[in-house]
Amino acid sequence: MRYVSMGSVPPKRHTQFRDDDGGLLVEEVMGYEGFSGNESILYHRHSPCDVAQVGSFEPIVLEEWVPDAHVHRLTDTAPLAAAGDPVLGRRVLMFNDDVEIAICKPTEDLEAFYRNGEGDEVLFVHEGSGVVETIFGELPYAPHDYVVIPRGTTYRVRCDDAPQTWLTFHTPGEIETPNRYRNRYGQLLEHAPFSQRDFHPPAALETHRDGGEHELIVRARRGHQRFTLDHHPFDVVCWDGYVYPYTFNIADFEPKSGRLHQPPTVHQTFQGPNFVICSFCPRNLDWDPLAVALPYHHSNLQSEELIYYVEGEFSSRAGVGTGALTLHPSGLPHGPQPGLVERSLGVTRTEELAVMCDTFRPLRLTTLARELDDPSYALSWHRARRAPVG
Ligand SMILES: [Fe+2]
Repeated sequence: MRYVSMGSVPPKRHTQFRDDDGGLLVEEVMGYEGFSGNESILYHRHSPCDVAQVGSFEPIVLEEWVPDAHVHRLTDTAPLAAAGDPVLGRRVLMFNDDVEIAICKPTEDLEAFYRNGEGDEVLFVHEGSGVVETIFGELPYAPHDYVVIPRGTTYRVRCDDAPQTWLTFHTPGEIETPNRYRNRYGQLLEHAPFSQRDFHPPAALETHRDGGEHELIVRARRGHQRFTLDHHPFDVVCWDGYVYPYTFNIADFEPKSGRLHQPPTVHQTFQGPNFVICSFCPRNLDWDPLAVALPYHHSNLQSEELIYYVEGEFSSRAGVGTGALTLHPSGLPHGPQPGLVERSLGVTRTEELAVMCDTFRPLRLTTLARELDDPSYALSWHRARRAPVG
């Protein structure tokens, strides 16, 4: 990320700095890797340690479903009823030790403020717009934004409309742009599918000086710890640095095509520990007269491949609609269903829009995935072989 400064930070770090009313501000360094990674410095009116009351701790319990059969899966989230709030309403579908993937269709506000103390978050906004109110300032979001929220960010979501549908990721690691897109100084390279201009930090910083009672929920140690504050948590007067929440709209991802088929790696958008997030965007297809524009069959020998279908018709998959997730697990090859390759020959463009998450370690499923599971998908290559192709 690039350096961002909001408000008027003092000319030197670690010096006396006062608010307009003369009060000495409290400097907080928020950084990764123990003072070796990226960091930001925030100037608070109150100590960020200041809690008035300690509330309950509630463990996060994921109900795992261990299926009887190891097969390709289709999990259709479209029929799932909207419910819950933007944080506690996230319903986990798949997880491992590196990433948790959930669907969220919030219908109500969470009055409490929230801080993920044990992971970075990505919210892919399929539908909906609003503002993520954060300690770094207000971050507007719109459909097809990736909202990236670093751990330690206190925030609250204000939804402006309905429906809201988000695919969410939580990782104990860091969400980053891929190393190969950056030069040795961290700047994005010319061949990267995006530039620094495509990443949007908070738009405005408003300092709250009011007291009152405010609830804070901190995710830590696989649970939610509640606190009560007697001041508004967004008491930051100014901040600067490289750590902050931001949005990146998938429409700003510059897709790559080639004379022949390009591998999924050209669609990579983010990296985490043992997983990647990729964006399949509308694009012109391969231009060699003999090109096969659809993916070749492949065995992801060390990875699981999850695709969430956002818009358009996904060219290599029949019968998969908006809001569906396919999971092609390790051990099983996958590819276009029979007939689709033949049908694609000579096609010059795709309007597909999808988000993919490839994990290097197996994904485990929850009982919600069982509820939304379409067991017939495992046989769809066989059925399609028999079906007439129009
Ligand atoms: Fe694949």
